[in-house]
Amino acid sequence: MIRLKSASDIEHLHVSGAKLGDVLRQIGEMVSPGVTTRELDRVAELRIRELGAKPAFLHYSGYPATLCVSINEQVIHGIPGHRVLNSGDVVSLDLGLIYEGYYADSAITVACGPVASRDQELIETTRRSLYAGIDAVHVGARLGDIGHAVQQVVEAQGMSVVRDYVGHGVGKELHEDPEVPNYGRAGTGLTLKEGLVIAIEPMVNAGSSAVRVLNDDWTVVTVDGQKSAHFEHTIAVTAQGPVILTRP
Ligand code: MF3
Ligand code: CO
Repeated sequence: MIRLKSASDIEHLHVSGAKLGDVLRQIGEMVSPGVTTRELDRVAELRIRELGAKPAFLHYSGYPATLCVSINEQVIHGIPGHRVLNSGDVVSLDLGLIYEGYYADSAITVACGPVASRDQELIETTRRSLYAGIDAVHVGARLGDIGHAVQQVVEAQGMSVVRDYVGHGVGKELHEDPEVPNYGRAGTGLTLKEGLVIAIEPMVNAGSSAVRVLNDDWTVVTVDGQKSAHFEHTIAVTAQGPVILTRP
């Protein structure tokens, strides 16, 4: 069941999203050699609570932290801990919060110190694929237009889109309908209506799209061990076009 949002709902989601964008940017700026992933998580939780909001991921389906930190071959859902970031790491940060009953969800990937040029390309391609997906959003467009736009950018670089995980509706719950794949055929799927709010979140692998889950039951990694990147914004479909709700 898809729950379309009123203008007032979207204003609330925008407030939540702006708070999230600010916190995620701060955490991104903390990424540097020697920092532990737990430190990033502690600061993320502290900042979220200072803003009067609550972490969205903590205890969600038993997830034990506020932030997901996925390094190098880790795709998503990396659990913060004692691991120390090293120069050359590709670090994906995924964060969600709830404020006054409204969720926001966003992810960025940042380079820890200087990284290999192919890794920088991976990060830039994934960011560009998210914005290509966002550019495909307008009233009357189809869900398949978004996936198609993302996929085109990624595959043009010889990289691959993860298919086992997808974007989703966002609102009074973290995950609402519809599912938002990062692949697909233009002109197919659900027709986008005013008031639809979705998280578009391409997960892009430098090599094969195959992924598996580690024994911690959370961390998703590439099967071939090559690196992966992830960007995500929560987007509102409005008569004026797409509105990025999670911009800092
Ligand atoms: N951004 C991710 C998602 O949309 C984060 C989920 S992590 C979890 O599903 F812990 F909340 F599951
Ligand atoms: Co999400």
